[in-house]
Amino acid sequence: MLKILVTGCKGRMGQTVTECVEDDAETSVGAGIDMGDSLPDGLGKSDIVIDFTLPGFTNDVVTACLDQNKPLVMGTTGHTDEQLSRIKAASESIPIVHAPNYSVGVNTLFWLTEKATEILGSDFDLEVIEMHHRHKKDSPSGTARRLAEILADVRGLSYDEDCRHGRFGDVGARTNTEIGVHALRGGDVVGDHTVVYANDGERVELTHKASSRRTFAGGAVRAAKWLNKEGIKSGLYDMQDVLGLK
Ligand SMILES: NC(=O)c1ccc[n+]([C@@H]2O[C@H](COP(=O)([O-])OP(=O)(O)OC[C@H]3O[C@@H](n4cnc5c(N)ncnc54)[C@H](O)[C@@H]3O)[C@@H](O)[C@H]2O)c1
Repeated sequence: MLKILVTGCKGRMGQTVTECVEDDAETSVGAGIDMGDSLPDGLGKSDIVIDFTLPGFTNDVVTACLDQNKPLVMGTTGHTDEQLSRIKAASESIPIVHAPNYSVGVNTLFWLTEKATEILGSDFDLEVIEMHHRHKKDSPSGTARRLAEILADVRGLSYDEDCRHGRFGDVGARTNTEIGVHALRGGDVVGDHTVVYANDGERVELTHKASSRRTFAGGAVRAAKWLNKEGIKSGLYDMQDVLGLK
């Protein structure tokens, strides 16, 4: 039985991860911790961590995993470049799965987005739209960022330099080398993402809508079991690796 430490166990995702771990015959909750609880103690009772918390806690989680040589499934989004570098550096010593989205459907959307962008070519204008519940803190979502990165990679553009996050005022006509990214917030929306390809006379839209957090939590449990089964000793992986889509 794979014992899992659920960090942020009182949060929306943490509670759902706990349910999915308990429902899975191959996993059990080693410990659940939230604000004020001891991370090293919880980790000592567990084989692996599933983390859905805040980016500010990532350094602590990574350090604890390095200290106890335990694998990590990182679900938290909204990291700075420095925090991302820290995750990458740690993955030289321990195995880490880090995915902006653990749902099978969204990972299929990533694959389809790459293919559609290749097929449609450079005449199409590219926009990404995401919507999440009113409590979401980071923007754009990690998934919208990944979608924009895929668009940028295929088109030979840069996520940092060519994305336009929202438009306001006299911003001028759209250029062919910009990728629009727009974040909507409201209600209890679990997570909607659409990639828009717009040309004169036609438009293609690829959309994924999540209606349950179990789609993310179940994927994270699947990633934890994959790391365990493969007996991976170190390296940085994403959900495409877990699903065998690479
Ligand atoms: N990768 C994915 O598939 C995916 C899917 C959904 C959400 N997310 C991300 O997961 C994260 C959590 O989302 P949520 O909706 O569950 O948020 P939430 O606010 O409901 O829960 C976060 C939990 O983390 C706890 N926490 C924060 N700092 C902590 C610390 N220092 N020590 C211990 N616990 C701490 C909070 O107390 C809270 O219980 C966000 O970054 C979100 O974007 C990722």
